[in-house]
Amino acid sequence: MKFFADTADIDAIRDLEATGLLDGVTTNPSIIHKSGRKFTEVIAEICKIVDGPVSAEVVALDHATMMKEAEVLRKIADNVCIKVPLTIDGLKTCKALSSEGTQVNVTLCFSANQALLAAKAGATFISPFVGRHDDNGFDGMQLIDDIRLIYDNYQFDTEILVASVRHPVHVLEAAKIGADVMTAPPSVIHSLFNHVLTDKGLAAFAADWEKTGQSIL
Ligand code: G3P
Repeated sequence: MKFFADTADIDAIRDLEATGLLDGVTTNPSIIHKSGRKFTEVIAEICKIVDGPVSAEVVALDHATMMKEAEVLRKIADNVCIKVPLTIDGLKTCKALSSEGTQVNVTLCFSANQALLAAKAGATFISPFVGRHDDNGFDGMQLIDDIRLIYDNYQFDTEILVASVRHPVHVLEAAKIGADVMTAPPSVIHSLFNHVLTDKGLAAFAADWEKTGQSIL
């Protein structure tokens, strides 16, 4: 499973990149707003830190303007992945860009039928929002399971990029289903490393090692 960081926080991205476990970055207009940075500049900076795909979202609602925005964004760096909304215009743009070899991440997906359309449009990634699905009384992980079944039925190459991830259980369930990618805020990614018994065990090892009076170096 690929791990993407869902943020435009440069320090947090550098920190995760240093673990060697970061496979890409996703952003959206809300994340860019939160960063307080100029959109194209922060995307360029992120693209220099990570080698993997960096999702940069168009903000237009019509196909023609989306294409113009995509032209600006994809010139930033080779690893820019254009993010488009799951609308008719967004999928028209997805079809056009993917046919030119540009990576496209189709976002704001909330149904398996929407994911089916995105795959037919040649999406590189589909981003079902599991957290927001759960927030509204739907079953976010069932959506992922349905998409996985449909994509496997037709051997679609589109990768399931689980988004709106709120906690480690979302990551666990997505991995058990066989999603290709998960994107999460740095805080959620960091929480994946933690377990109280690991901490306790390490403390006990350290205490017993101390008693040996030895040093490895
Ligand atoms: O990539 C989509 C993600 O940023 C949305 O997360 O928590 O706002 O639903 P959230």
